[in-house]
Amino acid sequence: MLTQDELKTQVGQAALHYVVPGDIVGVGTGSTVNKFIDALASMKGQIKGAVSSSVASTERLLALGIPVFDANAVGEISVYIDGADEIDGRGYMIKGGGAALTREKIVAAQSRRFVCIADESKLVTVLGKFPLPVEVIPMATQRLIRQFAALGGTAQVRMKGAAPLVTDNGQHILDVTGLQIKEPLAFESEVNQWPGVVTVGVFAHQRAQVCLLGTAGGVKTLTY
Ligand code: 5RP
Repeated sequence: MLTQDELKTQVGQAALHYVVPGDIVGVGTGSTVNKFIDALASMKGQIKGAVSSSVASTERLLALGIPVFDANAVGEISVYIDGADEIDGRGYMIKGGGAALTREKIVAAQSRRFVCIADESKLVTVLGKFPLPVEVIPMATQRLIRQFAALGGTAQVRMKGAAPLVTDNGQHILDVTGLQIKEPLAFESEVNQWPGVVTVGVFAHQRAQVCLLGTAGGVKTLTY
């Protein structure tokens, strides 16, 4: 029986197959992506470098000698590799458990193909069991908590010790429980236009086209 960590290593290595030699690769954030970054070091001579979705991933890439480019300095990216907190049968995801959702969505939007790497615990039929991360402007926090309550959700400010966690963009995160997101495209569009929301952690407009799912029987490739 493989551990969750071993499943993450498997899918991190399997994702190398999707990296286009000679190109710049989009790199997400999280413990599964860390396995991918470590594996990517083995082909660093074959790629130009990476566009990163967080300070943490940038530091890991640079430590391994992989050049990191500003998103504004490059055009379309051939492939974006990232994890997910939940993924459904259509490639729609909840992301942001690592608080990097805004930059993740930016790099995903700049990429032709999103390859999600996840262990099988992340596969769901309906999104919403994992608390939905939403990056918000702190001034809007209390009103947004009330707006989520009107949808049946309970939103809490994510803390780091005694103070709210501050994202790479200088904002806060709300984690929302109690939602069943049956129409991810419509939900993402609606919440994204609430004043004060920077990014909602539903990735439906930026869904995955491929999911490499780590299972006890090996890596399964799901395509959408
Ligand atoms: C970070 C993310 C991650 O992709 C998500 O939280 C999954 O992380 P992990 O691979 O550690 O389970 O969205 O903001």
